[in-house]
Amino acid sequence: MSFIDIAKTRYSCRKYQDRKVEKEKLDKILEAAFVAPTAANCQPQKLIVLQEKTGLEKLSKAAGIYDAPLAIIVCGDVNRSWTRPFDGKKYHDIDTSIVTDHMMLQATELGLGTVWVCYFKPDVIREEFQLPDNLEPISILVIGYPEGEAASPDRHIKTRLPLEAYVSYESL
Ligand SMILES: Cc1cc2nc3c(=O)[nH]c(=O)nc-3n(C[C@H](O)[C@H](O)[C@H](O)COP(=O)(O)O)c2cc1C
Repeated sequence: MSFIDIAKTRYSCRKYQDRKVEKEKLDKILEAAFVAPTAANCQPQKLIVLQEKTGLEKLSKAAGIYDAPLAIIVCGDVNRSWTRPFDGKKYHDIDTSIVTDHMMLQATELGLGTVWVCYFKPDVIREEFQLPDNLEPISILVIGYPEGEAASPDRHIKTRLPLEAYVSYESL
């Protein structure tokens, strides 16, 4: 699949088969994380991969994960975050989002469904997974074999703003 076909095929999958994701596929997803770019190559990501019932149940206390067989908690380490000197902006949330997006699109290419989850209780994740203060849970990537009909790769014309709504050339 070309990149644009992968991007169009991806959709937020909220129903999963009761089927484990193979190690080879998980390894490929993690390889996509491995090659992702980060600001100044600081690599502030910390990924907690959950496939066992105990971990997934713990995560379910903090977020809806749609009974998926695999979820990755993507954390950012504030101590490893590149900080822009002019205004102190930290980039760990952006870096971890790039990592998440790389993994999500790789999972799509492997025929897996995904949904990116940010609607979670960070304090519960901190407590359940004993996160130190420097690790901020940023996103959860839910992954598994999709159940039911996939969203159409042609849906964006109806579900997205037209490019003219936010693209301008040469000036605002
Ligand atoms: C940063 C981010 C956070 C999201 N958080 C959630 C979430 O907590 N729960 C959920 O079901 N979907 C979540 N989504 C999925 C979006 O609702 C979805 O991507 C959007 O509606 C477009 O639909 P599509 O992914 O099917 O193209 C999130 C997506 C992004 C990019």
